[in-house]
Amino acid sequence: MVQGLLSASTLWVGSYQRRMPVSLDRMYENALDWAHLPYLHRGSFSSIELIDAGDWGWRAALVSALTTHRSEAFVLELRLDRTHRRWISSTLEGPGAGSEIWTHVFEYGPRDIAIQADFFVPDVPVDQKARVGAGYQRLYQGLYDEDEAMMLGRQAALDQRAAKKSVVSEALDLGPVEAVLPQHPLDFDFNGQRWRLVEDQGEFIVYSLTCPHQLGSFVNETLIDGAITCPWHGYRFDVRSGQCLSGNKCELPTPPTVVVRGERLYAMLAE
Ligand code: FES
Ligand SMILES: [Fe+2]
Repeated sequence: MVQGLLSASTLWVGSYQRRMPVSLDRMYENALDWAHLPYLHRGSFSSIELIDAGDWGWRAALVSALTTHRSEAFVLELRLDRTHRRWISSTLEGPGAGSEIWTHVFEYGPRDIAIQADFFVPDVPVDQKARVGAGYQRLYQGLYDEDEAMMLGRQAALDQRAAKKSVVSEALDLGPVEAVLPQHPLDFDFNGQRWRLVEDQGEFIVYSLTCPHQLGSFVNETLIDGAITCPWHGYRFDVRSGQCLSGNKCELPTPPTVVVRGERLYAMLAE
């Protein structure tokens, strides 16, 4: 064990395995993506403050969702080792300091991988090993349920974008006005993207259902005060201006214009 910091008092308490229909690229991207922890995994982490990040991994101060006290933050470092297809997450300071999680990834096909995470914890009495190990397994089961859904969602959005990027149509017939408008919110595909037509604050608006950051979906998110928040990294957008209200450098794409022609409703390319 060359890279880790394991001390003599550290005990292996258990492991977690999972096979997933995702690529190695998606998996590495997920491991390096420190910013999703308090959003996608809001049930496990309440905040994160980045200390350093790069192609090597990241180091950040995290606060567990079980507390909101910043004084209980712990410093976690994740080091990605592509040569050995693994990453080591070490708790450097705070609650749990000295523990390490070694995650190895095995590639069975282009979108077929398995991970094995091994949990090493210092100062665990031998008779408590199984209980502590089971706690880590439950935690990892929950985290990977969320991570797998995110990786699959992102891959599907990337595939959809690649398949439809050359298709450009001028207009899409949404149907008869009197049948369509009462159905709102109405989700529809137009020129390779998913959009929502909805009445908000007395007017009908259209906005993109795909986050411009990493293609998170807004399908299950509620419009609050004319803004939408992405469940993956918490970016917030004004759906009318497209502006990112959380200060990140991206904005929603210009939506199609929805017009009435005769008795029918059409989505048209915005001028
Ligand atoms: S995908 Fe990252 S904030 Fe939406
Ligand atoms: Fe995650």
